[in-house]
Parts: sequence; structure tokens; C-alpha cells
Amino acid sequence: MRMVDLIQKKKRGEALNTNEISYIVQGYVNNEIPDYQMSAFLMAVYFKGMNKREIADLTLSFVDSGDRNDLSAIQGIKVDKHSSGGVGDKLSLVIIPLVASAGVPVAKMSGRGLGHTGGTIDKLESIQGFKTELDRETFVNNVNKYNMAIVGQSSNLTPADKKIYALRDVTATVDSIPLIASSIMSKKIASGADCIVLDVKVGSGAFMKSVPEAIELAETMVEIGKSLNRKTIAVVTDMSQPLGHEVGNANEVKEAIEILKGQGADDETTIALTLASYMTVLGGAFKDFDAAYSELSHVINSGRAVETFKELIEIQGGNSKVVDEPMLLPQSGCHIEVKAPGKGYVSAIDAEKIGVTAMLLGAGRKKKEDVIDFSAGVTMVKKVGDKVSSEDTICILHTNLKDYQEAVEMVKQAYSFSNIKPKPSKYVYEVIQ
Ligand code: URA
Repeated sequence: MRMVDLIQKKKRGEALNTNEISYIVQGYVNNEIPDYQMSAFLMAVYFKGMNKREIADLTLSFVDSGDRNDLSAIQGIKVDKHSSGGVGDKLSLVIIPLVASAGVPVAKMSGRGLGHTGGTIDKLESIQGFKTELDRETFVNNVNKYNMAIVGQSSNLTPADKKIYALRDVTATVDSIPLIASSIMSKKIASGADCIVLDVKVGSGAFMKSVPEAIELAETMVEIGKSLNRKTIAVVTDMSQPLGHEVGNANEVKEAIEILKGQGADDETTIALTLASYMTVLGGAFKDFDAAYSELSHVINSGRAVETFKELIEIQGGNSKVVDEPMLLPQSGCHIEVKAPGKGYVSAIDAEKIGVTAMLLGAGRKKKEDVIDFSAGVTMVKKVGDKVSSEDTICILHTNLKDYQEAVEMVKQAYSFSNIKPKPSKYVYEVIQ
């Protein structure tokens, strides 16, 4: 087999067979196929797509390139959740204690942030002492005893996806449905869960910019999950502006605590409850979505959810006092109030630009090796639909950097204004199951 022939075949829009897909993935991981040929192949997939069988084959080739987690020592139905990536997405911090409170085990593996999107592991590490590396025995014991544990992704999980994702990032081939679907689903299959709930984001801060595209991605991933015997539900949710009011790390933890106390913004509370409800239905705790949603709302209102989050922090070695005293979270030395560059109603907030602003302030990484400042970030005082005059503060930037002018300019560019009050967007567009 020759890589050039397979590139040619895909360029003509023909389907590759199982062996051909495995040859490409293995060859690339083993450094037998060079970056320039893999780049050409990825671009051919971007333009010509893949059929369902090819996407399932690509997913399994990614899974087979590394280890699979064995969660069989954990009792009960293991349900995992994954977000296709957004800005201000602190929902895992809320969902883990919510789902665990309902008696469904959550054995969570999460990633770090890169570029304009944040990562759950970084956010949790902003809590003093919180350990995100647990040995296997502790991880399993904690899930069996407390129904919850979270760790960073093991380094040998889907190495093919890791290597190909890095290449996609620099060859403008990230936003391809077959490539995103196989990338996400391979990680979920390898991480060993029985059931999967996917949060497919749509809007300016997401890879999928339109609802029909997001639905197509959601349907593709649900089909892959089903074909590999994993019950899978995908929820298409809004990312036309960042979620909630906080983007960063420590400030997102603070906001997650507010949601768990029942004081969160509407968008993130609704989406967190929706995802957690589907997870608990798949985990067998409730007979249907409505029953789950109503009970989980009660779990929040009764204070149980926030107590479970405290417990999660404690069992992973962190200082749970932050729940009642958020000032114990890292605080930056400098807070810059940005005034509205226009007036009227906020008509749009470009989520990607807010994510880049947070990164410029020190909250994110440009390169994998960068060290992040947990206290840096953006507080969005005004969101879409809010009325503003030129005296009003739209955002507060938090940083320890002296040079923050680029961030101020970026955040101003992120906001658009109009004289007409925009229609509120939906939080949940579609559920695919
Ligand atoms: N998230 C992933 O894990 N992979 C993609 O390709 C896109 C988002």
C-alpha cells in the first residue's frame, strides 16, 4: 500500500476500506508517514468527507493506537460526558457532583486548556492542594466509595488522535465533522465508560458555527457510539456567546460554586441540569428526563450539590473552604474595568475573542508548555441583550501582567452593539438519541 494512492483515492471522493484507514493511522503514529502526506490526506477528508463506516473505522484506529481504560472494577453503570469545546465552559465542575449526588458513578477524565478554550483540569488545579493525578487504585476506590473522581487524561490514551489533532490545528483541518467526531468518540471509547453524553456546542465560540452543522456532528457521534455498543446522547447547546459571566480558571470555579448553590446564570444552570439529567437517566437513576431534571434541581436547591462538591475537593486533597470563602481562590493583582465602546444593546459577544482575551491575560496557553496564571481571566459584566451606555463597564479583566493593552483591544472587538434589543437565543437546540 502507498500513502500517495490513498490520498489520491480520498481526493476523488472514494471511500477507504478498513485496512487502508488502519494503515494510514498506524503509519503516521509510527513516523512512517510524514506530516506533509498526512496533511494532504486530512485536507482531502475535509473536502470530500467520509461515510459512516469510514468514520467508525477511523475512531477504532485511534482507540487501538493506545491504552484503553479498564473501569470494570467500578460498580454500576459508568456514564461519561464530553463537550466539543467552548469558552467559559465550567459545566463539568457542576455536573460531577450533581450526577454523583444522584448515585450514578462518575469516573471522569478531563483535559487541559489550549488556545482560546479552557480545560477542566486547569480550573480544578486553581483550588489549593487539589490533586488531578491519582493512581489507578485511588481513582477506582474513590468512585466506588464516593461516586466520583476526576483525573487528567492518561498520556497514552489515543496517541494517534493527539498527534493528528496537533497537525489539524496547524493545517486548518480542525472543523471537519468526520475528524471531530472520530477524535472525540475515540477518547470516550478508550476512556471506558458504558454510556456517553455529548455536549455539542454551536455558535461563534464553537467549531460548529450553524445549528444544522452541529446537528450533523451530533448525529454522527451518536451513531458511532451506538455502533460501538455505547448508549450515547448528544445535546446541541448554545455557544454564540461565552457561558455565564466568568472566563478563566479560579473565577470559573467561583462561578461553578454559585451554580451549585442555585445562584448561577440561567444559561449554564439550564445546560448543566440538562446534561446531568441525561447522564442520570442513562445511569439508571431516573425513569425519564423530566423526573431527573426536577430531582437534580432539588439537589441544587437543598444544598446537597454544593456539599458534594466540597466532598470532591476534600477527597482529592484540596482546600474545600473555597466553597464558602471564594476569596481564598487565587486573586490577581490588577483588575481593569473596560467601558463600553458603543451604546444601545449588546447584540453579540464573540466567544472566541473572549477566550483569546483570557489567554492574553495569562489564563490560557499559547503552547502546550506554557504555565498559566489561575487568577487571570475575564468577568463579563454585560451579556447579549443587556442595555449599555458609554459610561458602563462591560468587562473586568483580571491579570498580573503589566502589558494588557492588547487584551483590552481584543475584548472591545468581541462586543457588538445595536439599537434593537436582540432576541434571546435558545440554550438547548436539539437532543439526538
Ligand atoms: N475536541 C476534540 O477532542 N477533538 C476535536 O477534533 C475537536 C474538539
